[in-house]
Order: sequence, then structure tokens, then C-alpha cells
Amino acid sequence: MSYNKKQIAVLVSGNGSNLQAIIDAIKSNQLKNTEVAIVISNKPNAYALHRAQTEGIKNVFINPSEFNTIQDFDKKIIDVLKTHNIDLIVLAGYTKILSSELINAFNNKIINIHPSLLPLFGGKGMYGQKVHEAVLKSGVKETGCTVHFVTQEVDAGPIILQKKIPVLSSDTIETLSKKVLGEEHSLLIEGINLALFENLPIKKAENYLQNTI
Ligand code: GRF
Repeated sequence: MSYNKKQIAVLVSGNGSNLQAIIDAIKSNQLKNTEVAIVISNKPNAYALHRAQTEGIKNVFINPSEFNTIQDFDKKIIDVLKTHNIDLIVLAGYTKILSSELINAFNNKIINIHPSLLPLFGGKGMYGQKVHEAVLKSGVKETGCTVHFVTQEVDAGPIILQKKIPVLSSDTIETLSKKVLGEEHSLLIEGINLALFENLPIKKAENYLQNTI
């Protein structure tokens, strides 16, 4: 651990392409003075863990079934995060909803990437392909992705950045998810830079929405 670098924790559940984007951005110096201190997964087979392992990044699977409640599970996560002096927690494809204890323990220090233009197509149960399926069903002409702070209400925290993507009549769930994910990676890096180094006043974070689309 290098104490003059910002310490990021990345919480994952799946493939981890966003984690890879963070790792690559650190290597290419797009993300400066930053290191991934730890990757935490709630799924044993998350490919993201393999990515961390390959890169020599500390990684841990915490088994939810070993805890009676989400509070107990998150207490374990809080303990792990505290021992690593984390400056920012990035939810990158993490499928568990955080307890208020975890959110309060890292007030304004948790960000999430979501594959739609929030507040549209967000909230409990809206994740992965379900988001793109709902987008296609609704007939909207554009979708996108959002980086936002995590607050108590799911997917409703202040928005840091959004990127719009047109929805074509030929789009399917697969084409749309591929296009959106392709844009997520750079948006997440920009969002991390802002959250870490720009000292965003959380109440005003939504202003960035206007400036960055
Ligand atoms: C991304 O679409 C992200 O927006 C959502 O989960 C997906 C994770 O993808 N929260 P990956 O695991 O980073 O490849």
C-alpha cells in the first residue's frame, strides 16, 4: 500500500469489465495517484476476482450465506474496508443492495455505475439485462449510463456523470448492453477522477449532469 495514493475498493459480483477499466486506467495514468487496495466479491466465481488475482491485486470473496443478516454481512465488509484506509468505494457490477450501516460508514464515498440514464430504469430489481429489456419495451429513443453517489435510496443518489446512447429500432438486449457497457468504462474513470480529486459538493453533484452529456 502506498499511503500517498488514493485507495480504492471495488465491489463486484460478476465479469468485472469495469474493474478492468479501472486497472487499465491506473496503468495508463488516466487515473493518477490511485491504487486498487482491494476487490471484494459476494460471488465465489466472479470473473472479476480472477482479473484482480491476475493483476496481483488483493481480492476476497465474502460469503453472504455465512451471515444471518445483511447488516452482519456488511459489518464484515466495513471491517475489511476500514483496515485498508479506503478513500472511495466503487460498486462495479455489485448486485447486493448496501445496508444503511455500510452507506453511513462511508458517507459520500461510495459511487456506482448503472447502465441507464437514471432516474430512468433504476431502482430495486433493475440490474443487468433487465434494464435493457425495460428500455427496449418502453420505446425510448435513447438510453445510456450513469455514475452516481450511493445514498439510502437505490440508484437515486446525486448524479456525477451521464452518457447518452441512441436506441436504434434494430437494437436487441444484446446489442444495447454491449454498446452501453462499452461507454461505461470511460465514464466510470471520469467519475472516479471527479469523486476523488474534485471534492464534489454532494448536493451540487447533479449539476455535472448538464455539463457533461
Ligand atoms: C455494468 O453494466 C454495470 O453498469 C452494472 O453491472 C454491469 C457490470 O459489468 N452495474 P462488469 O461486471 O463491470 O463487466
